[in-house]
Amino acid sequence: MDVMEKEHSSTPEVPGQGHRPVLLHPLIEHLQPSPGQTVVDATFGGGGVTAALLEAVGPSGRVIAFDRDPEAIGRARALFSGVSNLTLVNANFRNIEPELGQRGTGPISAIAFDLGLSSLQLADPARGFSFSLDGPLDMRMDPYGKITASTIINEWSQPDLAALFWRYGGERWAARVAAAVVAARPLSTTRELAVIVEGSIPRAKWPPRIHPATRTFQALRIEVNDELGSLRQGLQGAINLLMPGGRLGVISFHSLEDNLVKNLFHVAALDCICPPHQPFCTCAHRALLFQEFRKAIRPDMSELERNPRARSARLRVAQRI
Ligand SMILES: C[S@@+](CC[C@H](N)C(=O)[O-])C[C@H]1O[C@@H](n2cnc3c(N)ncnc32)[C@H](O)[C@@H]1O
Repeated sequence: MDVMEKEHSSTPEVPGQGHRPVLLHPLIEHLQPSPGQTVVDATFGGGGVTAALLEAVGPSGRVIAFDRDPEAIGRARALFSGVSNLTLVNANFRNIEPELGQRGTGPISAIAFDLGLSSLQLADPARGFSFSLDGPLDMRMDPYGKITASTIINEWSQPDLAALFWRYGGERWAARVAAAVVAARPLSTTRELAVIVEGSIPRAKWPPRIHPATRTFQALRIEVNDELGSLRQGLQGAINLLMPGGRLGVISFHSLEDNLVKNLFHVAALDCICPPHQPFCTCAHRALLFQEFRKAIRPDMSELERNPRARSARLRVAQRI
């Protein structure tokens, strides 16, 4: 399983700006937002995608931006105060369909998902996302979320921890990490956990390009935020919301996300999902998406030179039929 190359957000900090979205140019090029349209940024973060969408749709268009993190929405209010054609929604994008339904937004022409963490979340030790900064074992994108990394680390059984580190982190030393965590409990900080992980993987077997705690932290974050469940539901909602010809773009940062997007787009582009041996169709499934490119779009050399941490990013785009 690919894991994020290093501990990073998709929007590494740029001094003076705070964020640099990855794959922004190809995302906007493929979504083709144009003046007067209503479009959605499902992941506001630092606002780079929202800013580009606002520019493209112009004053006669409308942008609706989601973030489940109230701090991101607070920043958005400050950054875009007085921008009357931007609607901010502090909600999980898994509820994109009911949230937009209750706002009566009309036809949606494009929806962007730029997954993962923002650099501001990662850089704040109090959020507990970083293994290189000391903070509480939290990792919630939404601070009102029910479970924290601490709940999992301190309360789950050893086999359940091992299964989680393997399933969502691809950690081949999952059983040893889980045993070391259970032996060291209670744990309260990110550094404590990082040191336990480092100590449970033989030095000679540390992964070459990433910190040894990367996979464990990724697994915890995915579970704490139910990232894959939210993504599946959010994409289905987005497909339902888009008008015919409307475009959907998703930027992901590890293979679990990218595989989910790839498979969901693939099935949504099929006219029949009956088993291949079945002589006639009984599923009544109809294609909802068209994919011009089946392959994911990756950062080009110039983007990688400017920002080597964009290496794991993948963009997939599809069009509503
Ligand atoms: C990588 S950042 C987005 C960066 C943004 N495109 C920019 O240009 O700065 C991801 C953001 O999405 C938010 N997010 C992640 N999963 C979410 C979800 N299920 N619902 C709503 N927001 C989510 C995170 O809180 C974070 O602020």
